[in-house]
Amino acid sequence: MGKPCSPIQLLAISGSLRAASSNTVLLRAISQLAPPGVRVELYSALGELPHFNPDLEGKEPPVVRDFWSRIRGADGLLISSPEYAHGVPGVLKNALDWLVSGEEFIAKPVALLNASPRATHAQASLSEIVTVMSGRIVHEASIAVPLLGKNLDAAGILAHAEIAMALRGALTAFVEVIERFRTQTQVPQ
Ligand SMILES: Cc1cc2nc3c(=O)[nH]c(=O)nc-3n(C[C@H](O)[C@H](O)[C@H](O)COP(=O)(O)O)c2cc1C
Repeated sequence: MGKPCSPIQLLAISGSLRAASSNTVLLRAISQLAPPGVRVELYSALGELPHFNPDLEGKEPPVVRDFWSRIRGADGLLISSPEYAHGVPGVLKNALDWLVSGEEFIAKPVALLNASPRATHAQASLSEIVTVMSGRIVHEASIAVPLLGKNLDAAGILAHAEIAMALRGALTAFVEVIERFRTQTQVPQ
């Protein structure tokens, strides 16, 4: 009998600090679709990370070390971000900058979600940033969902048959890819 696999741990990061953020609500909805054996944690300290400064190397505050440890412990990252002035919101770019010199992000599977299909510049920019940081974008799991202007909460998203189906499909594809990576990297006993 094979060794039982540990649960798949996903870390969800919203690029918006807005209380009523459609990207955050999208991540809340997808977390509720997690099948048994998959846990989704919503990262809540993005706005508390200090401005990235290479001079802080070796003296990083606890919030940064905690962020690194959550990234390290995650089997995959679900990132959902708005677009600001055709770019990635500063708060998200700042968080990613804290990961550039470490090992935590390397080969990490990443799904790039989006609550607005209009946000093509930010999506393209995030794709470039994640790639140059050696993350593995899972394209089958990277979808844009038209939530802009719909004012839905997580329950409303899950009650929307088309959107819920798209999210379920993205999550299933993401988990399948992560499971494949796990099998490939398993050391034979
Ligand atoms: C300062 C600012 C700049 C924005 N710039 C763009 C933009 O360049 N392109 C775009 O499609 N939407 C833009 N938007 C709209 C947001 O991307 C959109 O409202 C998004 O859904 C907000 O995400 P949230 O609900 O998660 O906060 C901008 C919004 C703000 C507040």
